[in-house]
Amino acid sequence: LLDEMRLMKDAHELATMRRAAEISAGAHVRAMQQSARMLRAGQDLREYHLDAELLHEFRRHGAQSPAYGSIVAAGANACVLHYRADAAPLRDGELVLIDAGCELDGYASDITRTLPVSGRFSAAQKEIYEITLAAHQAAFDLARPGVAWNEVHDAATRVLAQGMIDLGLLQGSLDAVLESGSYRQFYMHRTSHWLGLDVHDVGEYKVGDEWRKLELGMVFTIEPGFYIRPAANVLKHFENIGVRIEDDVLITEEGHECLTALCPRTVAAIEAEMASCD
Ligand code: GLY
Ligand code: MN
Ligand code: MN
Repeated sequence: LLDEMRLMKDAHELATMRRAAEISAGAHVRAMQQSARMLRAGQDLREYHLDAELLHEFRRHGAQSPAYGSIVAAGANACVLHYRADAAPLRDGELVLIDAGCELDGYASDITRTLPVSGRFSAAQKEIYEITLAAHQAAFDLARPGVAWNEVHDAATRVLAQGMIDLGLLQGSLDAVLESGSYRQFYMHRTSHWLGLDVHDVGEYKVGDEWRKLELGMVFTIEPGFYIRPAANVLKHFENIGVRIEDDVLITEEGHECLTALCPRTVAAIEAEMASCD
């Protein structure tokens, strides 16, 4: 019962979670800028360089630690779901997927951004990114009190599946693709989890046989992804592109508040952020 009550955050908890989210957003911006800066300067840029930027920004603002081992996944590594920041080089023309959030006074934040290492998305990368972003938006648009947990996931999945069909990655109607689950070749995880004292916070997703309904004060993530590993049905120019976009959301009376809104999310906003640093 106590665990269940903790799903509804009080004002003090929310103040801490807002601040944690803000610090993490700043850390992602710092990593974006450093990526562009080092690449422009022709320096040897590795996953751990960006991991170091994230850590620096967390600690500089008083966050005690990362809420989980940061993922900095260069190029094809983005298609490996639980990859950690290692030593792979970040190359011009490739994407890097960064999943990192700080823990502040016991509370977690959890953000994923996927950026072009050099600061400009290629046409193929942009196609995958925009579909993932549309899935993210569809999930966000639904987030309000009374909506059932699975509806958020289903909304994101529907957009992703349609995108896979439109790009020629999957054959058949949307209903057939959803029914067969063939979209799981490219989207194999859930869209959301509770967020709080733990990054994957405790709390039921169902009440009996029914999916739980969203309530005021609940905090959770929205994190659709699109991962394209080489396969017979994959065109060469989509190979090894992996994208995830993750934000933290609070259910409010009006609908929702994005706690991580300060972190650039659109293609234009990310490109602008990476172009503006010196
Ligand atoms: N960083 C863990 C997750 O996104 O669920
Ligand atoms: Mn998450
Ligand atoms: Mn995450």
